[in-house]
Amino acid sequence: MKEQLLKIQEAAKLALENAHTAAELEDARVRFLGKKGELTAVLRGMGKLSAEERPVIGQIANEVRGQIENMIETKKAAVFMEERQAKLKEETIDVTMAGRKPQMGKRHPLTTVLDEIKDIFLGMGFSIAEGPEVELDYYNFEALNIPKDHPARDTQDSFYITDNVILRSQTSSVQVRVMEQQKPPIRVIAPGRVYRSDAVDATHSPVFHQIEGLVVDKGITMADLKGTLDTFLKTLYGPEAKMRLRPHHFPFTEPSAEVDVSCFVCGGKGCRVCKGEGFIEILGAGMVHPKVLERCGIDSSVYSGFAFGMGLERVVMRRMNIDDLRLFYDNDLRFLKQF
Ligand code: DAH
Repeated sequence: MKEQLLKIQEAAKLALENAHTAAELEDARVRFLGKKGELTAVLRGMGKLSAEERPVIGQIANEVRGQIENMIETKKAAVFMEERQAKLKEETIDVTMAGRKPQMGKRHPLTTVLDEIKDIFLGMGFSIAEGPEVELDYYNFEALNIPKDHPARDTQDSFYITDNVILRSQTSSVQVRVMEQQKPPIRVIAPGRVYRSDAVDATHSPVFHQIEGLVVDKGITMADLKGTLDTFLKTLYGPEAKMRLRPHHFPFTEPSAEVDVSCFVCGGKGCRVCKGEGFIEILGAGMVHPKVLERCGIDSSVYSGFAFGMGLERVVMRRMNIDDLRLFYDNDLRFLKQF
C-alpha cells in the first residue's frame, strides 16, 4: 500500500509538471484528490489493514496528500503567470504601425454664413436676441396678428404639442418677446431654428433656420428699412448687389414687402439660377403693424418700427450655389470640406 501511495505521488508530480492551464490543473486535482480520485480510492482500502499498519500507512497517506496539495498550490501560481504572459503576448500592440489619420471637421457653411450675417448687423449697432423653440401659440401667431382662424396659419403648417404650445414656425415670435421686455430704441436680430410640418425635398425641410430683425424707435420709416437691408445685402453679396422691394402681405407688418436681390450668377441679366428673373427673393419685411406694437405695450402714436425675416438655408444656397437643402444636414465631410 505504501508503494501504491508513493506511485500516486510520482504520477501526480508528473501530471502537474505537464499541466499548463488552470483547467488542466483542476483535472489533475480531481484525478488525485477528488472524491473519486486515486488517493481516496487507496484510503478506502485502509479498513482492511491491521491495527499496527493503519497509523503508519495513515501517516504516509497524509504526507502524500499534503505533498500533492503543495505541488498544486505552487503550480497554480506558475500557471497563472503563464496564462497572463500568453494573454499579454496575444494582445501586444505594434505602436510603430502607421495609424489612420482622424478626419478633421470643418465649420458648417450655415455657421460660417450666419456668423458673417451676425457680424454685419452687430456692426450696424444691432444686438442678438433669443427665444424658445418650444413656443406658445400666443408668441408665434396670436400676438403677431394671426388669430386662430387666420389663413396664414395654413401656409405654416405647424407642429402642435398642445392646443397652445407649438414648435415655433417662425422666429418672428422673438419680436414679441423682445418688445415685451425692452423699451425702444430696439435693434435686434434673432437667429434660430424653426419647425414646419413639411416633407423633405431639395428645397424643404421640417427644421430650418431663420434670422429675424426688428428695429423700433421714434421716427422709423420705410427708408430705414430699405437703407438697412441694402447695406446688409451689399456687404453680404458684394457692392454690385442690387435690391428690389415688391409689395406683399404679412399679418404683422403694414405695409409689407418681399425683398429680392440681384442674381449673384448673372448680376441681373437673367439666367437659369434666377429663372430668367434677374432677381432672387431673399426675405420678407415691412413696417411693424401698430396692433403688434400696441399688444406689446408700445405706444404706436410715438414709436414705429420695421421688421424682416429671412431663411438662412436659402441665403447660403444662393450664396454658395448649393442646389439641394438636404446636403446641409447629411454631415458628409466630402460636402462640408468644399467650403
Ligand atoms: N416670418 C415670416 C415667414 O416666416 C418672414 C417675415 C416676413 C418676418 C416679414 C418678418 C417680416 O419679420 O416683417 O415667412
